[in-house]
Amino acid sequence: MKPKKVIFSAMQPSGTPQLGNYLGAIKNWVGLQEDYSCRFCVADLHSVTVRQDPESLRQNSLSLFALFLAAGLDHERGIVYFQSHVPAHTQLTWALSCLTYMGELNRMTQFKDKSQKHSDNINAGLYTYPVLMAADILLFRADLVPVGEDQTQHVELCRDVAERFNNLYGDILTVPEPFVSGAAARVMGLSEPSRKMSKSENGSENNVVFLTDPPEIIAAKFKRAVTDSDNQVRFDPENKPGVSNLINIYRAVTGKTVPETEKEFENSGYGAFKTAVAESVIAELSPLQDRYSRLMADAPFLEAAVKRGAERAAEEAAPLLKKVMDAVGFAPR
Ligand code: TRP
Repeated sequence: MKPKKVIFSAMQPSGTPQLGNYLGAIKNWVGLQEDYSCRFCVADLHSVTVRQDPESLRQNSLSLFALFLAAGLDHERGIVYFQSHVPAHTQLTWALSCLTYMGELNRMTQFKDKSQKHSDNINAGLYTYPVLMAADILLFRADLVPVGEDQTQHVELCRDVAERFNNLYGDILTVPEPFVSGAAARVMGLSEPSRKMSKSENGSENNVVFLTDPPEIIAAKFKRAVTDSDNQVRFDPENKPGVSNLINIYRAVTGKTVPETEKEFENSGYGAFKTAVAESVIAELSPLQDRYSRLMADAPFLEAAVKRGAERAAEEAAPLLKKVMDAVGFAPR
């Protein structure tokens, strides 16, 4: 039997997890576990590239970890852990930093965007963020990296750096491929459907469905979702961004196709359609929310899972880090 290919991915614990994180990534990861060896991490080191309140960071990180497990990421078969618990991430980052050119980092669109948004805090970590991400991936010899469109440039950089390393030092690093899945949905805001779902600029919470929202809040948010005036459930992201986003959400949750969805609602107005979308989301999230609350109430279980994740990740990462250190020429200890 051929060994399974390795999948690595990670998510930052910045803010309260929401529907976009789930349908765009986590739900998709859950489905990959049958066919791949999976390693998933809470990328807390990446989060501090923008200023975080320590207590919120701690809370958000633990919540995200619990949510990973509640959603069905299997920490027995695979590894689920915190990035900050495995020092090999930062150690490998240093070795790779010395092989990454400033010219390459200058081209990263996320860096350019974030330095505009946080112009008072353009720190070195924000700049070298893609190198840390490359280290995450390479440490676990990942073959495939499921990411959204906004991260593919970082995976490309990771490939370039890995190839450069291998050319210099021998065939040590596995050069990964980005894995952009058709099943994952890019969820847009409910009140601002032209932009990715996130806290809205004007602070309105109606733009975002949080994974911990109770059913009546979810229903109310979908009811208020922005649509258009022609009352036709038709997929047309250009001209009908709001309705298309709802179709996308419905499709991702139910597994139906776009044409099936259009057909199903061809004789309904937006009211009935929105109710159906909300109900599908509530049905999908309810069991997850139950498991999440039970996990959050079970501190001993969570603590043990966190500890074991850290140990297993550290153990798996150690040999690759050692090979890299030896190859670069550091004296053996
Ligand atoms: N930068 C990614 C994001 O913000 C998260 C991330 C960190 C990641 N390390 C990674 C994703 C490694 C894939 C592989 O979405």
